[in-house]
Amino acid sequence: MARRKYVVGNWKMNGLSDAVGEAQAIFSAADDHSAVDVAICPPFTLIGAMVASVPGKAIGGQDCHSAASGAFTGSVAAPMLIDIGASVVIVGHSERREGFAESDTDVRAKAEAGLAAGLSVILCVGEPREIRESGAAIDYVLAQIAGSVPDDFDAHRLAIAYEPIWAIGTGLVPTVADVAAMHGAIRGALAARFGSAAEDMRILYGGSVNGENAAELLDAGDVDGALVGGASLTAAKFVPIIAAAATLAG
Ligand code: PGA
Repeated sequence: MARRKYVVGNWKMNGLSDAVGEAQAIFSAADDHSAVDVAICPPFTLIGAMVASVPGKAIGGQDCHSAASGAFTGSVAAPMLIDIGASVVIVGHSERREGFAESDTDVRAKAEAGLAAGLSVILCVGEPREIRESGAAIDYVLAQIAGSVPDDFDAHRLAIAYEPIWAIGTGLVPTVADVAAMHGAIRGALAARFGSAAEDMRILYGGSVNGENAAELLDAGDVDGALVGGASLTAAKFVPIIAAAATLAG
């Protein structure tokens, strides 16, 4: 079966209670584009209010701990996300890998915890600028895939997000050819490891996606959707990206 387009908003550390109305507006507009799967990952503090105001929609966390409970001050466990009504979690975002020193092993453990709890997981990978400039981006990202993707999972519940670090929040984007080459390499690595299940796994692009560039990026080979930061915070900016995905979904 063809992979459905998947557009995910990563709100990062943005949004107070009044931002829930923005999520309502986004999901309401997304209802007109039913060929696209849409999710929003707000800060933990907004998940409960968002689940209550847009029941049945895909709301997620931006991280989870690898343990189900315990003495981990400040952390949130995957079963807690399920408990509050979330259905998705992002793991391994570069802002966690870099800012919180998360290794591939940590990211894999978090992905396993999310899957075990029943969440859909979006597992992020992506190279820093110096690696891109050295020509080693594909090798770097495939090593992250090898180290952080679990061995055993339902392919429909694990998506990869390729997010070049130098493109996040900068307005810079790789060329469409570079995106297609990276996504093709990721698909090839997944196929080598998981066989035909790799065909069911969605690979999202992230990094400065906006309403202007979304159609071109989402049309690149092996790009099944987008993980969007800044342009996901308002319906005015996010809905055009969802609409672009819907056009490509046919
Ligand atoms: P950006 O962030 O769209 O603001 O570049 C993407 C992300 O970090 O997921």
